[in-house]
Amino acid sequence: MHTRPHVALLDWSHAKAEAQPVRKAVFVVEQGVPVELEWDEWDERSLHAIATLDGKVVGTGRLLPVDDRGTVSIGRMAVLREFRGQDIGAAILTALLDRAREQRARQALLHAQSYVAAFYRGFGFIERGGEFFEAGIAHVEMTLAL
Ligand SMILES: CC(C)(COP(=O)(O)OP(=O)(O)OC[C@H]1O[C@@H](n2cnc3c(N)ncnc32)[C@H](O)[C@@H]1OP(=O)(O)O)[C@@H](O)C(=O)NCCC(=O)NCCS
Repeated sequence: MHTRPHVALLDWSHAKAEAQPVRKAVFVVEQGVPVELEWDEWDERSLHAIATLDGKVVGTGRLLPVDDRGTVSIGRMAVLREFRGQDIGAAILTALLDRAREQRARQALLHAQSYVAAFYRGFGFIERGGEFFEAGIAHVEMTLAL
């Protein structure tokens, strides 16, 4: 049993200062994603999870607006390497899915890095289609009926 992280959902203006260092450490530094691909126009329009453990920011993830077909996309899930395996990613995804259900979304969609598809499968996400590459990393599309 791990100490439970606290997860807040914030708009970009309030989340930016805390989310950016985590995403930079995980995606840009650790995974080598080009920095210009990491930041996009969806940040301004998304809700951002900020997970803290004992006051330290350790993870993030974002929830895009629900589209006109009731689908909501989840992305940029990241937990600092030294804090993985402590259910922090699970707490972030749970908070994002709870909010998506509150928004009456019918389906959640994400592009999972293939190596971590099992993490999302644990929440009931199912793979759709084959593998593809984004930012040089193998991904698979996954969906969850809400
Ligand atoms: C993916 C990520 C966010 C998961 O965060 P985490 O805090 O380590 O995950 P948790 O500890 O909450 O794990 C929850 C469950 O998923 C499983 N899981 C976590 N990472 C996994 C992996 N790489 N492969 C398979 N299962 C995994 C855990 O075993 C756990 O299962 P359990 O509940 O049966 O014990 C984290 O590994 C990460 O930031 N990775 C680097 C960035 C990345 O690849 N993001 C995904 C983009 S799609």
